[in-house]
Amino acid sequence: MPRVTDLVFPRLERKEDRRKERWHRDVMDEVFDRPTLLAVSRMVTSGHFKEVDFSISTGKEANVFRVSGAAGFRALKVYRISNSIFRHLPPWALAEIHREVGGASFQRMIFAWAHREFTSLKRCFEAGVPVPKPIAQFRNLLIMEFVGEEGLPSPVLIKSVVEDPTAVRSEVASASRTMVERAELVHGDLSPFNVLYHRGHAVLIDVGQVLRTDHPQAKEMLRRDATNFARYFTRMGLPTPPETLFTEMGGDLLP
Ligand SMILES: Nc1ncnc2c1ncn2[C@@H]1O[C@H](COP(=O)(O)OP(=O)(O)O)[C@@H](O)[C@H]1O
Ligand SMILES: [Mg+2]
Repeated sequence: MPRVTDLVFPRLERKEDRRKERWHRDVMDEVFDRPTLLAVSRMVTSGHFKEVDFSISTGKEANVFRVSGAAGFRALKVYRISNSIFRHLPPWALAEIHREVGGASFQRMIFAWAHREFTSLKRCFEAGVPVPKPIAQFRNLLIMEFVGEEGLPSPVLIKSVVEDPTAVRSEVASASRTMVERAELVHGDLSPFNVLYHRGHAVLIDVGQVLRTDHPQAKEMLRRDATNFARYFTRMGLPTPPETLFTEMGGDLLP
């Protein structure tokens, strides 16, 4: 019987791949703890992917990997089961999760968080917001469409050379507006760090901390998102008053 770890991280034979192998081991220790490996093996058994290819990002709460299988490439977001995670979460989301699982088990709170991101992603996707297609979620794992080209992940906006900033501004504004209008959600952490620049188009990601439009803080958070982006677009040579962008992003539709 092959071990789960060998299955997911095939042993790299060539000499130049040794460094990669050491990296794999380090990441495994940190991110792929026992409960996470069990969840990964369940995903593999269900046919969602066969191999973890490489790390795309190491964040405060989660790591994102490219994975591959019969269906091609996908993005796997792994929420770390470590105590540091909830320090970075916004209080409204934390309150919601506490209500949901009673705060009894730390692990269950993380699972609930991953589930929250998955359902928010689905809601956005179904509403026609440009987001990666959600595929599956199990425990602390979330699988979604891989946004990239020729196997390489598309960069976030902040690290991209944007050809047509005016077009991107109108795409970001309309994505947020669709989110408000049709998904009845406010992103709450929208910035050039959470938008991918894919083939010249904007794709919104990282929807774990969305708020419903009727939430008392929804307006404040949308204003913050608009201010972030107004600063970015102004720097890009498109003078953008935050209040104008706020309205375009759906601020006028909020109660
Ligand atoms: N579906 C995806 N396809 C390609 N890259 C992705 C995808 N989702 C996330 N990423 C990459 O992983 C990074 C972190 O993802 P994000 O959801 O923003 O997590 P975090 O909570 O760590 O900010 C992104 O900045 C992006 O580079
Ligand atoms: Mg992010």
